[in-house]
Amino acid sequence: MAPEGKDDTTPSNDRWESGIHTDFSRAMSYGDYLQLDKILDAQEIRSEAHDEMLFVIIHQASELWLKLMIHEIRGAATALTDGKLQAAFKMLARVSRIQSQIIQSWDILSTMTPSDYLTFRDTLGQSSGFQSWQYRSVEFMLGNKNGALVKPHMHDKALSNNLTSILNAPSVYDLALKILAENGLAIDASRLDRDWSKPYEPHESVEAAWVEIYQQPEKYWELYQLAEKLIDVEDWFQQWRFRHMKTVERIIGFKTGTGGTSGVGFLKKALDHRFFPELWSLRTAL
Ligand code: HEM
Repeated sequence: MAPEGKDDTTPSNDRWESGIHTDFSRAMSYGDYLQLDKILDAQEIRSEAHDEMLFVIIHQASELWLKLMIHEIRGAATALTDGKLQAAFKMLARVSRIQSQIIQSWDILSTMTPSDYLTFRDTLGQSSGFQSWQYRSVEFMLGNKNGALVKPHMHDKALSNNLTSILNAPSVYDLALKILAENGLAIDASRLDRDWSKPYEPHESVEAAWVEIYQQPEKYWELYQLAEKLIDVEDWFQQWRFRHMKTVERIIGFKTGTGGTSGVGFLKKALDHRFFPELWSLRTAL
């Protein structure tokens, strides 16, 4: 029997305390700080389809995580330039955690069937993740350089200038090779000063340097750690690419993409790319 005045159907979770702030007419609230009005007002659903909300939110959330990845990779690049390797490791480790987080999106997205997707696919027009400039920035920062991929952004000067400056800057891997050379490892000069906008080509001197590091981890502990942080990032990146490709196959089969590519075939090719080729080949050479 409930005590008088109490309804025994009410759960006993009344957590109200007298000090709780309630007047936000002048103070900054949670929503103000996070600009939630902007973020939560940015889902423009263009069809009647129930699943379009999922599609929009998954992409928007991924773009937010990409924003943080860019912030962390940029921070890591600055730390590497300044010789602050431990600080760079911390930021690269965070990049890997973010990657493991966004990979989970594919589990949510795969609850959308091909029939569900077809209910709103036409509303996308020619828009596609292929035009994600944040994704392209991450690819460029890690070293997958391809000037032609700036083209879809030429209609926006600020954006294409920004992407071009990332294209022309040394990648995280280029910075790592410089550190190897500074530590007395014999890196060929052609890999230490080159046109940074061009794709990186593997070189035997680089593989030999990484092999030496992996043969004597105690002697080169920091460089060995650097290699493992980088390979983590690449490993997660490939897992993201793989899950994207498989989810796309599950949803659209072998149809062409809204961005104009062959679709799954195009995404499969990306799986062959390596940001840090010698970090992979050293494993066979060791
Ligand atoms: C129904 C879900 C999805 C489908 C069917 C799909 C399909 C595709 C296809 C076919 C491509 C190749 C380019 C094209 O022709 O469009 C592509 C590229 C891309 N998509 Fe998706 N996608 C989906 C979800 C996502 C999500 C959630 C993201 C997260 C941001 C994403 C990011 C990207 C990126 C970054 C590329 C460029 C990849 C590269 O250049 O290597 N996609 N997508």
